[in-house]
Amino acid sequence: VEAPAGGTAGPIGPDRTVAVVGTGTMGQGIAQVALVAGHPVRLYDSAPGRAEEAVAALTARLDRLVEKGRLDATARTAAVGRLHAARELAELADAALVVEAIVELLPVKQQLFTDLEKVVGDDTVLATNTSSLSVTAIAGGLRLPGRFVGLHFFNPAPLLPLVEVVSGFATEQDVATRAYETMRGWGKTPVRCADTPGFIVNRVARPFYAEALRVFEEGAADPATIDAALRECGGFRMGPFELTDLIGQDVNEAVTRSVWESFYQDPKFTPSLAQRRLVESGRLGRKTGQGWFSYAEGAERPEP
Ligand code: NAI
Repeated sequence: VEAPAGGTAGPIGPDRTVAVVGTGTMGQGIAQVALVAGHPVRLYDSAPGRAEEAVAALTARLDRLVEKGRLDATARTAAVGRLHAARELAELADAALVVEAIVELLPVKQQLFTDLEKVVGDDTVLATNTSSLSVTAIAGGLRLPGRFVGLHFFNPAPLLPLVEVVSGFATEQDVATRAYETMRGWGKTPVRCADTPGFIVNRVARPFYAEALRVFEEGAADPATIDAALRECGGFRMGPFELTDLIGQDVNEAVTRSVWESFYQDPKFTPSLAQRRLVESGRLGRKTGQGWFSYAEGAERPEP
């Protein structure tokens, strides 16, 4: 992985507090990584009780790691002692890094960071885990947009090593370098990139999904056949249909739409009508028990 482009800043030390705002799928995963790296971690979520639930879920995850022999019991006890739920944003005041993983809506993210900036110190690094919004736009209304950076983790965050460290228009070089070095300290494999729609991975993956959907729409083959061809002969771990069932058809379609709109509706990125209908019918993938395939309770393999 390439060396960071300029900047001399070191990582944020493990003695410094990391705050995670939004404690759903991604927030919990990111919090786990920061916790295991040694930081005190504070969790905040606007839904009442959600941060406390996340503390309980994370504690249970650490217990499972101990059972599997991947974490020793002393480290687990110390980690749980460093983890706290916050009831108000004001409790994040001493964080050296805040990672946001809330709902993927630009005005909601902008408002959160405006509120956060009133609470944290001027040298706190503010980061977003957005997968499809512009880092530059999220930072647009900040007093100090130079300390704002994208930290795009992949799901599940504790397992997947890649983190895209995204520099927005105003991001200071030292801030991106500090974020990059911090991710290395967390055992991740960071890559630096500029703020373009979909960054690297979500952008390059668009044609993979789009062409598979077109092949299906043209009646060339069914989803199971296309998946099998790519998985068994094409060297992909999962075919595009089973993979989007795992991601969530709604999430995948929203990213495609966002990239398409960001490129002024370039036909190259046109979303698929077949996928739109699937989303409209509520067949969102594994999470609803049905997407391109059916995930009946107890079924060993998905049924088309
Ligand atoms: P999620 O729906 O599981 O969790 C979002 C959490 O944010 C919820 O607990 C919600 O109560 C909370 N929240 C909403 N508005 C808030 C606010 N104003 N202040 C504080 N908390 C608020 O969502 P998920 O999947 O964890 O995604 C979060 C972010 O991560 C999004 O920006 C998404 O694009 C990005 N992302 C998601 C990936 C995925 O595979 N799910 C992968 C990489 C990035």
